[in-house]
Order: sequence, then structure tokens, then C-alpha cells
Amino acid sequence: MRVYVLNGPNLGRLGTRQVDVYGVTSYADLVDMCVDVGRELGLDVVVRQTDAEHELLGWLHAAADEGAPVVLNPAAWSHYSLAVRDACAMLRGPLVEVHISNIHAREEFRHHSVVSAVATGVICGLGVDGYRLALRHVATRLAAAD
Ligand code: DQA
Repeated sequence: MRVYVLNGPNLGRLGTRQVDVYGVTSYADLVDMCVDVGRELGLDVVVRQTDAEHELLGWLHAAADEGAPVVLNPAAWSHYSLAVRDACAMLRGPLVEVHISNIHAREEFRHHSVVSAVATGVICGLGVDGYRLALRHVATRLAAAD
């Protein structure tokens, strides 16, 4: 089963961007980790990142059409993009929202995600390990649905 791991703006800068907040794992390493974890779990993981909102919307529409599960870090769009939220609401497979940092322990404007209410679940504050846990959860759900 194909699973999409989609990442919003600035996440392509992981490894150099605010390492005290987001850690030293590079985006390339995150991609490798997600693909490797997917392989262990029997999932075909496709990892993407964009700084263009319309591109993320297109990927979400495609995932909705396929009924594919999505692991999504909407990054800054989490906090204000109703377009991203509406696209997420169209998904038919599970949606796990991931944040590397603990958004609740940061600035107040990060405390609310407009996406969370349409997500199956949310993981935040566990670093890039959150992606691993999200994929593990997706695999468990898919196995239970068989
Ligand atoms: C983030 C948290 C957001 O507030 C921020 O805008 C990001 C990354 C995280 O993974 O912790 O870009 O989603």
C-alpha cells in the first residue's frame, strides 16, 4: 500500500534550520528514514516536501482520490491554512499530523492547528521519531483493516 509522507514549507531546510528546535537530522536523512521504516513495515512510502501551498493541495487531492494514508507535517500552514485543512478533510485513508517540535510549548500562535480536527491523530514534540511512529501506526491500522 502506498503511503504519502508530505511536508510543508521550510522543512526542506531540516538539519540547518533552528537545530535547537528541529534537531540535526537533514531532510535527506528524514526521507531515507521514512523509506527504510516503510520497507520494514511493508509500506511503499513516498516522501515529498514543498514550499508552494498549491503543490501540497494537489498531492492531498491525489491521495484522496487513491484513498491512500497520509502522514503530514503541514509546518506553518498548520496554523492558518483552511485550504490545507479542507483538502485534508477529503482524505479517505488515515491522516496522521506530525510536528517535530512540541507546538504547545512554543509561541502561542503555534498552539492551534487548523488541521488537527480533521486528522486521525496528532504526534508532536518527539522529533523526527514522530514520523517513524506515525508510519508504524498507519501499518497497524492497515493490517487491522485487512
Ligand atoms: C512544525 C511546527 C510549526 O509551527 C512550524 O511552522 C514548522 C514545523 C514542526 O514540525 O514542529 O515549520 O510543524
